[in-house]
Amino acid sequence: MTQMRTESRPMTEEGDFLQIKAIDHVHFYVGNAKHAMHYWWKSFGFEPVGYSGLETGNREFASYVLEAGQARFVVSAAYGPTHPIAAHQMVHGDGVKVIALEVEDVEKAWKATTERGGKTAWTPREDKDDHGIYRTSAIHTYGETLHVFVDRADYKGVFAPSYKPIQKETESTGLVAIDHIVGNVQLGKMNEWVNFYHKVMGFRQLMHFDDKDISTEYSALMSKVMQNGNGRVKFPINEPAEGKRKSQIEEYLDYYLTPGAQHIAIITGDILSTVEKLRKNGVEFLRVPQSYYEVLPQRLGEIKEDYKAIQELGILADRDDEGYLLQIFTRPIQDRPTMFIEVIQRHGSQSFGKGNFKALFESIELEQERRGNL
Ligand code: FE2
Repeated sequence: MTQMRTESRPMTEEGDFLQIKAIDHVHFYVGNAKHAMHYWWKSFGFEPVGYSGLETGNREFASYVLEAGQARFVVSAAYGPTHPIAAHQMVHGDGVKVIALEVEDVEKAWKATTERGGKTAWTPREDKDDHGIYRTSAIHTYGETLHVFVDRADYKGVFAPSYKPIQKETESTGLVAIDHIVGNVQLGKMNEWVNFYHKVMGFRQLMHFDDKDISTEYSALMSKVMQNGNGRVKFPINEPAEGKRKSQIEEYLDYYLTPGAQHIAIITGDILSTVEKLRKNGVEFLRVPQSYYEVLPQRLGEIKEDYKAIQELGILADRDDEGYLLQIFTRPIQDRPTMFIEVIQRHGSQSFGKGNFKALFESIELEQERRGNL
């Protein structure tokens, strides 16, 4: 059984001042939005619901909005070389630019965070069309990533002004919501960003893992999990730890070139069916050694799912005081070894699968070695 180290940091007097309702969307800047849309649609079962581009009067960039349950992804690509999306994509490759958070009041959110030291990306603004008013404000977080605060209470159109609805027949894979988004930061910077989420955003520290928990012969990392007031938004922050050879976090930083979002975990209510569909759709997952499954039943005890099916699909499992979880990690989803996706099903457990880290890291290192980056 995994021992979870839970730390409770005192909240500021104001408590949960941001009152984030949920993650509103994740915005990827990519090289080819049409291809990215196709990937999330056909491989992951996200339904394309909105489009913005030349046909909608947007002459700057092409953009698609996709949804799987409450998880909303936006993929955008520039039409020309001078647009900021093109610059971002040139430096980082495809990656997450915006982690948008739904709030009641974007003005209040911007004031509260910038008064506490957050750096403004844009001041509160209103975008209007026939469908109403879409309100946003934004601050910077790690690397070139932004947190955009969104209030869509007075906006009835699809996503935002300039987007039009689209319909495409979609085969769901059972993904329903974002569970957590992990950020990779440089060596020695984890606590700075933990403090940012605590002081500027009013998050609490849920737990931490250090290099004694998460290390193999070569790779090591440290991680702290930050969570907002209602517990719906969880942002673990990783930094590399000293190991014999290159940490997977360093490999990420070498290719993304700045800190950034490392993985997005998406919840499913039936991981066996979801992973079977994703595999059929061509999604590539990390494989752990078969020996992992020899000891799994002793480690985990009784679970609802069939151990044989779990092993066949390469799913990982972990237990803590509150229950258990099942999870699996994709290989990087673009050519650069940067971002990947986690699929997770929770049965009571609110942790992150620490018991799997060692097996998982050995698998990641094997792939790093194949890329000549270990
Ligand atoms: Fe995760």
